[in-house]
Parts: sequence; C-alpha cells; structure tokens
Amino acid sequence: MLLQSRHPRLLDAPTPLRIRLVRQRDRHTPVGDPFPVHLQLELRLANRDRRLLGGAGAAHMAVDRQLEQVGGASLLVPFGSSGGLSQPFDGAALEQRRMALVDRLHLVVVLLTREVEVVFAVQLAEEALGAGRIGVEVDGQGPGTIGQMPNGPEQQVISTEARPRRGEVLELEVEDLVYGGRGLARTNGYVVFVAGALPGDRLRAEVTKAKRSFAEARPVELLRPSDDRLADRCVHDGDPCPGAPWQALPYELQLAHKRRQVSDALERIGGLEGFELDEIEPAIEQWGYRNKLEYSFGEREGELALGFHARGRWDLIVDAKGCLLGSERTNAVRDEVHEWAQLEGIPAYDLRAREGVLRNLVVREGRRTGQVQSRLVTSPAAFPRPPVDLHTVIEGPSGGTDGPTGALGAERLEEEVCGLRFGLSHGAFFQTNTEMAERLYAIAGEFAGLRGTERVFDLYCGIGTIGLTLARHAGEVWGLEVIPEAVADAERNAEANGIGNARFVAAGARTGVRPLLEEAGRPDVVVIDPPRAGLSQKIVRRVIECEARRIVYVSCNPTTLAPNAAQLSEAGYRLRRVKPVDMFPQTPHIECVALLER
Ligand SMILES: C[S@@+](CC[C@H](N)C(=O)[O-])C[C@H]1O[C@@H](n2cnc3c(N)ncnc32)[C@H](O)[C@@H]1O
Repeated sequence: MLLQSRHPRLLDAPTPLRIRLVRQRDRHTPVGDPFPVHLQLELRLANRDRRLLGGAGAAHMAVDRQLEQVGGASLLVPFGSSGGLSQPFDGAALEQRRMALVDRLHLVVVLLTREVEVVFAVQLAEEALGAGRIGVEVDGQGPGTIGQMPNGPEQQVISTEARPRRGEVLELEVEDLVYGGRGLARTNGYVVFVAGALPGDRLRAEVTKAKRSFAEARPVELLRPSDDRLADRCVHDGDPCPGAPWQALPYELQLAHKRRQVSDALERIGGLEGFELDEIEPAIEQWGYRNKLEYSFGEREGELALGFHARGRWDLIVDAKGCLLGSERTNAVRDEVHEWAQLEGIPAYDLRAREGVLRNLVVREGRRTGQVQSRLVTSPAAFPRPPVDLHTVIEGPSGGTDGPTGALGAERLEEEVCGLRFGLSHGAFFQTNTEMAERLYAIAGEFAGLRGTERVFDLYCGIGTIGLTLARHAGEVWGLEVIPEAVADAERNAEANGIGNARFVAAGARTGVRPLLEEAGRPDVVVIDPPRAGLSQKIVRRVIECEARRIVYVSCNPTTLAPNAAQLSEAGYRLRRVKPVDMFPQTPHIECVALLER
C-alpha cells in the first residue's frame, strides 16, 4: 500500500540516484476512488541508473504539458521537458521513453544534488498524504514508490496554504533559468516559473497558471533587477521582442546557460557520463541572424499590426517594425506588405471571431544569394495583387501557415552553404541561421570522420544539406525525408552541384529505414537530425538495426537527445563527444551535435 511506512533511504544514500518515472501502476482504472491505487507511481531504478544527480547546481524540470489524451482521463506528459514539445501530436509521443502516464496528475520534479523532490498534485493527493511530507522511497534496484516519509529528514513540504492562486501577485527572487528559458523562483518551497525573468531578479509577478504543484507567472514589476541585466535592444510596442526573450542576459551568460543545460539534460535525464562536452560554439552574429521570419497579422488599437504573438498570447500581436532579428532586406519586405495591406484596407483574420482575411507573412532570405522569398497567407478572399512571391490560402480556423499555394513570383529560393548551392521549396526546412548552419554542418562532418569510402545515411535530410556536404568525403550518401517536395529539392540540389553519389528517398523514418537498409546495405555512419520531439523508441530501434559504427546526432533539443542517447547507449553505443552550437542568440534554444560510437 502506498501509505505504508517507508524508510527514507534516498536522502541517506551515499550516492544520489537518478529516478526515472516509468508509468503509473494502474493507469486503466478511473481516477477518483480509492485514491492510493491510482496515485501509485512506479519508479524503476536499474543498476546503471545509479548516477550522481550532479555536482554543484541543480536541474529543474517541469512536466506540465498535456500531449495526448489517453483513454479519457489520462494525460501523457513528457518527463524532463519544460513546456512540452514543439510537435506535441507527433506520433512519437506515445512511444517516447521517460514519459509518465498520469491521471489528472501534474508533476514538477525538481532534482537537486543528493535530493529528489517529487511534488505532485491531484485533487485527492494532498488529502490522502496529509498535504505534508512527500518523499520517495527507493528500493535498491527494484521498484520504488512515491509515498509518505513519516520519519525522514527535512523534506519538501507542500502545504495548501503555500499554494498561490491564479491572479495572485507574488514577490519573488529568481534563482535559476530552467530549460525553455523561464526563471525559477520559489515561494514557501512552491515552485514558480516566471517568463522573462533572470536569475538575481527580485520582482512582483502575477500568477497566470496555478497547478497543485507549481505555478506560472508573468512579471508585473521589477523590484531589483539582476546585476547581470542589460537594457533590452529589440523592443516592440514597449515590450521586449517575443523572438528575443533572453536579450537582457549578457551573451556570455546565454552561452554558459546553454552549455550547462546540455550537460544537465545528458547527465540527469539521460544518465550519461564519460563523454567529452566541448565548449559551445558561439554565434557569428548575435543579432540580425534569422533568414526566416514568420509574422502574424492582427489589430492593435484599430490599426493593422504585422508582427509576433505577444508572449503567452495567441490573440495579441505586437508590431515588429524594425525587428533586430531579421536583416534590412527581410524588414523591408515586411514593411512593404504592411503598407500595401493598410493602403488597401484589408482586415486581419481574427481567430476568435473567425473572420477577416490576412493571416501570416513568411519572409525567407538567401543570405549569400541576396534572394528574398515572401509568402502571404490569407483566408479565401478577393483583393488586389499583393507584393509577394507566393500566396497560400487557408480555410477555417487553423492557426497554421500550410495550405494550397500559388506563385506570383519565384517559387524556389536559393542559398549557398559550405560551398554548395541549394534550392528550396517554400515548405521545406532550412536552418534559420545560415552562417551557423555552415558551422553546424562542419562539426557534423568532423564527427562523421569520413575517409572517402563510407556509406552514409542522412536521416531527416530535408533538402539534403548535410548529406550533400558530406558526399564529397564519402563513398555514397542516402538521404531519407518525409516531405516529398524537400526530397525533390535534395535530388535537384545533388544534380545542380554535380554530386553523383547521393540518393534521396521520400519516406518517414519509422517505416523508411528498413527498406532503405535493404536497398542500400548497412551504413558506416548514420546522421540523424530530427525535429524537436527527437526519435521515438521505434525509430531508435530502426537506427540500431542499421548497425552503423558511428552515429552523428544533430539535435535542437537536448531533453530529447538525452533519452535517445541513453537508449542508444543501452544498445552498445557510447556517447563520445557533444558540441553545443549557438544557432539562436537572444533565445533559450539550444542546438548540439553528438557523436556516438560502437
Ligand atoms: C531539423 S530538420 C533537419 C533537416 C536537414 N537535416 C537540415 O539541416 O536542413 C528535420 C527534418 O526532418 C523531417 N522529418 C520530420 N519528421 C520526419 C520523419 N518522421 N521521417 C523523416 N523525416 C522527417 C522534416 O521535414 C525536416 O526536413
């Protein structure tokens, strides 16, 4: 039984233990009655999971995002990620390891050195546990249980009085930055995540979301700024640019936080050790580096605005005139389209009222070629010809930008990277920071360690950028990509650059790898560059089946790289080296390249 007395061995253990939340023990029984059965969580610790939680510092991981509805009341949440994944409904979600299946349960797991605080909240939990001391029992290598720790040393106390309510204004001291970029503060031991706050800030913040176990808040008054704070450079409508949430943090500190978050994720989520963590590669340009900007139309005090969603708001657009993230060229295109729309008096689409016309403007730039591609996204409507290259029409209330697209100007954009020329369709992925993409690919190439004869798989190849840069040093390259237009681009790019040893296949990684193995044979090197959700367990298994000597994993999310690297380690690979690369200055986004070898 959950409430049986347990020995609080975790806190006494000479070596702190990493805990993996595996599953709720009985997730099929409806929540409600009797309570203990439903709340019982199983924590499985294997021998290899006995890891230090870390030296100095702390890892803070919030689990707060509903990803998928599972059988009614159950929510699937990622363990160890904050703010969820960028592709929340990706089919990968259910297969991901280190996911917790919980019933109406929101968890904040704060792992501290030699201490594990598990804070959980479900309506009945606090009553059943006496709203007092909650601890974790770890039973050697066997399963452990979250339960009451009656005689333990001082532990986290979660009391109902300490819990703030939505709308309440709290005075907080920000301690740290968590993955995803929010500041972490505590009030009576209760964790509060504050958007836009920096460590060292003392501020008043209004609670915008109050869960049983943690809250989210937005700053309303900065009482004492952190000593590190810089004045904001990119400001729209009086607020810091939503696309540059870390701009008040000196660049060296941004780099240091990113590097630490990579090591935290790998060590604490992945339980990985013994790898070389390189210095982070700083960005070449700290501002004006974005080659793609996606603007939204909206109304602001009766005026048409063209800019970004205000932080945390889907219904409020801040005008992004003169934004410092783009170049003069992209800004000029934005201004031209904005003026055209104002002159013609075309209304913005209102998501709430489901009426209006103008939805988005996507501007992409070939930094090396000087080309610009603009795409206007609207509802179906008649209006004078807009000054853009492409026009996408979307029906219904979708907030997305993909839809049937007609050309008014050039259909494809060209860019040069690593001495090669690439053409890309408007729907194809291209790294947002061209100059740093070149560095990223050079590092991937270094990690691939090619000698000229190898067979290379480039999984998630997009328009073929990584594969084609490697093809010059490899025997043959096979690219796999789910978007057919991107595959067509990759084939054209191979031909245009006179590369004859690269082939590309249009298929998803889950179903495409086995046929690729049959056709191409075993690769020596596999390069993986997935979206933020990382690899599902099935795809990890497909990668393992490739039996490559070397895996180069290009990741835009260390919290999904970590479990994937751990799974590959279990299959006999060793994480050798990781190099963080700063592709997105002024933001908390982290990119890194990892090398795994068998
Ligand atoms: C981060 S991008 C990397 C693209 C390319 N390596 C580059 O650097 O330009 C990820 C790519 O994976 C593709 N993708 C997403 N899900 C996929 C899947 N299940 N199977 C194969 N490709 C996928 C996307 O379309 C996108 O082109």
